[in-house]
Amino acid sequence: MRVNDKNYRTVWMQENTVFLINQNLLPFRFELFESSDWETSCMVIQTMIVRGAGAIGATAGFAMAQAALQAPEADYINYLLEAKTAIEATRPTAQNLFAATARVHAKALISRDEAVNEAQQIAQEDLDACMTIGKLGNTLIPDQARIETHCNAGWLAFVDHGSALSPIYEAAKQGKKPFVLVDETRPRSQGARLTAWELFNEHIQHRIIADNAGAHYMSHGMVDLMIVGADRIAANGDVANKIGTLEKAIVAKEYGIPFYVAAPSMTIDWLCATGVDIPIEERSEEEVLFQTGINKSGELTTIQVASPESEAWNPAFDVTPAHLIHAIITEKGIFKPSELNRMQ
Ligand code: MRU
Repeated sequence: MRVNDKNYRTVWMQENTVFLINQNLLPFRFELFESSDWETSCMVIQTMIVRGAGAIGATAGFAMAQAALQAPEADYINYLLEAKTAIEATRPTAQNLFAATARVHAKALISRDEAVNEAQQIAQEDLDACMTIGKLGNTLIPDQARIETHCNAGWLAFVDHGSALSPIYEAAKQGKKPFVLVDETRPRSQGARLTAWELFNEHIQHRIIADNAGAHYMSHGMVDLMIVGADRIAANGDVANKIGTLEKAIVAKEYGIPFYVAAPSMTIDWLCATGVDIPIEERSEEEVLFQTGINKSGELTTIQVASPESEAWNPAFDVTPAHLIHAIITEKGIFKPSELNRMQ
């Protein structure tokens, strides 16, 4: 990804330090965050300094590698297990997190060096998968397509390139001039803050739309296709993604608009038979009741935006059933949800 004409990854590890773009400050401030121990890397995932399935997975892998580097010789095995349990408790839905900790933990049992190499390998695989998703997904995008997307499944949600946005970046590179309708994606507004900022940096035409405007634009023939990411995909093709995705898929079906999901194969949880088995994270009600942004003086400020006496519910994800999804774009090919197991 290019930010101010410099190439970045969302997250990377050098020696024992993990470097991350601090997503809580975007789009207002671009700052890097450094984590030199696995406990801080857990905090980084939990507080969403890093977020998005692929980026969470890479960070969790690096955190597990940091734990291997920190583990005392005398208590190596127990220390690793405790760290794994703590890393896995940070966020429950993104499958990439669990796949990464399992892989790095297994290598850590062989040696510290193997753990670090495995974590670096996972990050590289994420990047490569997203690049291939871009190339394959681009074949589904006609010239001048108007594409709606939800939340942020771009560079920032992965090590680089993104899943849902990668085909759009590729289409733009091929001169197809895509136009993107960006769902703001309350309560944390990853669409309005992160996706819009990415598209701006890529010089791609877009408009931010209120979450409840999607049906309006779809019913007026202003959306040609929809592409979203995924946090976990069940074996039957049901997809957990950012809260609000289900609603968009239902509306897209009503208006005959193709609804695509893009995700690396690492996001598939073959042990989850259907979407009912996917754990859905419930986050703090504060995210619904308060909003953070900059005031007119440019200071980052949090304000209350709801009735002070009221409480809120805040599920972070919902599950879109396979029958509402046209196809799932992975680095291994484009699959009908019902035919996902052909990949195995
Ligand atoms: O809560 P988040 O921001 O970590 O949620 C993840 C998402 O951004 C989306 O649901 C995305 O479409 C899938 S993650 C690549």
